Amino acid sequence: MLALAAVFRINRNGSKLLIELCSMDPQESKFPSTHSNAPFDFRGRNVLITGAGRGIGQHLAQQFCRLGATVFVNDFHDSRATEVVDELQSFGFHPVAMPADITDVRQVQRLFGDIHNQCGGLDIFVNSAGFAQRVPLLEVTEEYWDQMQNVNLKGPFFCLQAAASQMMARGGGRIVLLGSIGGQSAQRNLAAYGAAKAGLSMLAKSAAVDLAPHGITVNVAAPGAVEGPWNDQFFSDPLYRARWEQTVPARRMATNEDVAAAVLFFASMGAGYITGQTLFVDGGKLAYLPSVPSTESDNVRSNGPTP
Ligand SMILES: NC(=O)c1ccc[n+]([C@@H]2O[C@H](COP(=O)([O-])OP(=O)(O)OC[C@H]3O[C@@H](n4cnc5c(N)ncnc54)[C@H](O)[C@@H]3O)[C@@H](O)[C@H]2O)c1
Repeated sequence: MLALAAVFRINRNGSKLLIELCSMDPQESKFPSTHSNAPFDFRGRNVLITGAGRGIGQHLAQQFCRLGATVFVNDFHDSRATEVVDELQSFGFHPVAMPADITDVRQVQRLFGDIHNQCGGLDIFVNSAGFAQRVPLLEVTEEYWDQMQNVNLKGPFFCLQAAASQMMARGGGRIVLLGSIGGQSAQRNLAAYGAAKAGLSMLAKSAAVDLAPHGITVNVAAPGAVEGPWNDQFFSDPLYRARWEQTVPARRMATNEDVAAAVLFFASMGAGYITGQTLFVDGGKLAYLPSVPSTESDNVRSNGPTP
């Protein structure tokens, strides 16, 4: 790994850097030097997951623990973060609860400072915190607009910034943001959320360009509707659910496992040359152009699910 790094750097920066790299302690470049043959071996990695108090983030916390990572469990709700950590501890894992509101930049700085003090810095950052609420376009207020942008775009940005700073000092890292098919195709009464999620994909591209020279990748995993508390209320009507599933080629909702497959892939060591991407986890929904539009399907209900 070290020899490869040297060749890479000499092409860009000249022979003086080659000599420095050759004399470098492998531990100084921790991220690449601990590359494992097992693609999803996260032992020795420090991972922060925001919004991990339930839903997709909670599942990701479980998966990263299972795969050996040291996991920091963030949520806006203290009790949710604590309950997730307590449950994982009962299975013998050692995650750490880190309650904070990611929309508050001072809380973000404190969160990342605490993580740095506890483990020396992050290797992997996953932003799962998010929130959506349908509001008709003409009823959107400044307060609602700000709320949607703050939780779905501003918060992830300042977390990404803080994570990147720690990863640069450690020689690399992986950043994965939870986007949405709603950032690619419009849904009724979700303009503010859709704009924020679309912004995340552009943020990932921009950050990918800035951070690639530092060995940090930035990607978006963008699901369609996922089984879980976010959608429970909308899919409790079996007739509605059956109709909705007809709009998805896979004929079902996504599961947390489906979403985790994309996140773990982006977070894996082998994905170091994949950056600035948005990967849709949608059972083919965005690829599909239904030939007979139905007024009752495709989320047209004003209070329908909000992927
Ligand atoms: N569930 C879906 O159908 C779906 C579809 C597409 C995209 N997504 C995206 O996936 C992500 C996770 O969704 P989910 O289904 O797990 O949602 P969820 O509501 O089940 O969980 C989100 C968690 O984020 C936390 N959170 C909200 N605001 C926060 C803040 N300011 N600071 C810290 N934590 C905060 C909440 O307390 C909650 O525990 C979101 O970004 C969402 O936009 C979800």
